[in-house]
Amino acid sequence: RIAGPCGLVIFGVTGDLSRKKLMPAIYDLANRGLLPPGFSLVGFARRDWADQDFGQVVYDAVKQHARTPFRQAVWDRLAEGIRFVQGSFDDDAAFDQLAATVSALDQERGTGGNHAFYLSIPPGAFPVVCQQLRRSGLAEPPGDKDGHWRRVVIEKPFGHDLKSAQQLNKIVNNVFPEESVFRIDHYLGKETVQNILALRFANQLFEPIWNANYVDHVQITMAEDIGLGGRAGYYDGIGAARDVIQNHLLQLLALTAMEEPVSFHPNELRTEKIKVLSATKPVTPFAETTARGQYAGGWQGGQKVPGLLQEEGFSKDSVTETFAAITLEVNTRRWAGVPFYLRTGKRLGRRVTEIAVVFKRAPHLPFDDTATEELGQNALVVRVQPDEGVTMRFGSKVPGSTMEVRDVSMDFGYGHSFTESSPEAYERLILDVLLGEPSLFPVNSEVELSWEILDPVLKYWRQTGKPESYSAGTWGPDSAANMLARTGRHWRRP
Ligand code: BG6
Repeated sequence: RIAGPCGLVIFGVTGDLSRKKLMPAIYDLANRGLLPPGFSLVGFARRDWADQDFGQVVYDAVKQHARTPFRQAVWDRLAEGIRFVQGSFDDDAAFDQLAATVSALDQERGTGGNHAFYLSIPPGAFPVVCQQLRRSGLAEPPGDKDGHWRRVVIEKPFGHDLKSAQQLNKIVNNVFPEESVFRIDHYLGKETVQNILALRFANQLFEPIWNANYVDHVQITMAEDIGLGGRAGYYDGIGAARDVIQNHLLQLLALTAMEEPVSFHPNELRTEKIKVLSATKPVTPFAETTARGQYAGGWQGGQKVPGLLQEEGFSKDSVTETFAAITLEVNTRRWAGVPFYLRTGKRLGRRVTEIAVVFKRAPHLPFDDTATEELGQNALVVRVQPDEGVTMRFGSKVPGSTMEVRDVSMDFGYGHSFTESSPEAYERLILDVLLGEPSLFPVNSEVELSWEILDPVLKYWRQTGKPESYSAGTWGPDSAANMLARTGRHWRRP
């Protein structure tokens, strides 16, 4: 679907996210013909820029990071709608200027009074920007409201605990009604993440065994090989659990564990996610069921890399974790007794995100003991990235005159099965904002429930002080391995 007449205003255009993700995504949407002809892009920042300067920034970002080929005609059309407003967030006059710019665009470009405001800024600035949007009249469409809209897009972190998230939700909802608030969790924009629902609910094969009778445990891994150089401002004091477990990994858990929605209507989907998040709790005692680490220097890909405390901008006694693992239980009939292990880390062995549903062993194995020595547990692995696909692991007879069983795998890979290319997550999500399609955006109660799940663990970690050190290029601290070993399990080595 092509978005109707509209424009996008970005706060925080000098940040990394804008340059690497948002601006390229807008160009890619334009290139695919999914933006309206008069689309406008307004940047708001403190820099002393003219429209042309901002246009150049967008151009450079597009040239460097866009996914689709550069086409001059597409760029020229997009560039005509680019504007810049200079100001700081507490500057009334700047917001009045923004309001004037937006309404001029409605006249010149036919954006129809429809604008989305993308807050790609630290959460501490949300309240003042929301208040400014209200004060300057930008939060509401002009004149006859029928069919016209104003929407706000919010980037994480949405608060740093339940209480702060509730306060933020209140402030945002005071200015924008919940249906106009689009909270970005870019994992939901990924094809492979949306495919969890297709895999589960379009097939007969998996759902009958997708429960505690057959599943031993679930492992959700989001591993990154990159370090945190250059990101101290955002990351120090936030840490791995707040950065990605609270949002991306809990959303993956919700999609993996939820019941079948009545339909794919946004409300039905959210209802099921909310139900499963309400039933999810961290397992105690946290000394045994969680792990928390910080990377030290080491070798990665043949290169020597610094530890977190040597990265620029991190305080020398920082207790920020760069690795976090937790154990959750989902207290429903479907999942009672099945642990969900979530882990994430920076500077790990390799970049990989996957969901592994690990099945119980067959109740009886009619083989000699030696025949099944190399047989592991069956597993279904959703490979979220980078090698997108699904793997099924099961035992098979080793060719030869004796009966011996060994693990093999069966693979589905996007690259092999489809000629269609996946849009980048931000492309899909920005388009959905402009279309007013809310399915892929968590509502405030999902955000709050996710904090409720994480808060007790964060509280415990505050008391334990410094995270355990692990060498860059490994799979995290020893305590991570121990937390599974205690129950006779082990982490997959993707
Ligand atoms: C972001 C986190 O949400 O996701 C980053 O803030 C992380 O720390 C990034 O690197 C990873 O995203 P992706 O899409 O590359 O897995």
